[in-house]
Amino acid sequence: MGKGKEVAANYRDSLLRPIPWLESFDIDGNVLDVEHKWLIEAFNHACLETAQCPSRGRQAVADFDIIGLLAKHFADEEHLFDQLDYPDSIQHRREHDHIRWLCTPLVTAPDDDIFAHSLVQARTGLVEHLIRHDLGFKTHLLHRDGK
Ligand SMILES: [Fe+2]
Ligand SMILES: [Fe+2]
Repeated sequence: MGKGKEVAANYRDSLLRPIPWLESFDIDGNVLDVEHKWLIEAFNHACLETAQCPSRGRQAVADFDIIGLLAKHFADEEHLFDQLDYPDSIQHRREHDHIRWLCTPLVTAPDDDIFAHSLVQARTGLVEHLIRHDLGFKTHLLHRDGK
């Protein structure tokens, strides 16, 4: 499947441009940051592989266990929501469901172009989630720590 086949030019550009980790993405200086870094790194790696060859990209998604990392990360974050009585917990969990939904084609897409497109979308969705929702949660973490 897709061996030697080039991905469509419109995804290729995005695939070839890694999303950098920024200091401003820091949430807890701890486990959540490590998980966010790992996830972005894994997505960046899978994107670069996909730009070369989609079947290698699929292999990278499996090797990094992106779906498993994501499940663990969301579980860790949601565990903290419960501990902190976080008021936006329901909405934030829904956003996690949305990312899970964005990631579904990474394991189910029969077509390489759909896979490549989904990978770019999932990576963007994750980083957008971090900025829009996880950084909002950070204020509650800081409050817990008396900062
Ligand atoms: Fe997160
Ligand atoms: Fe989150």
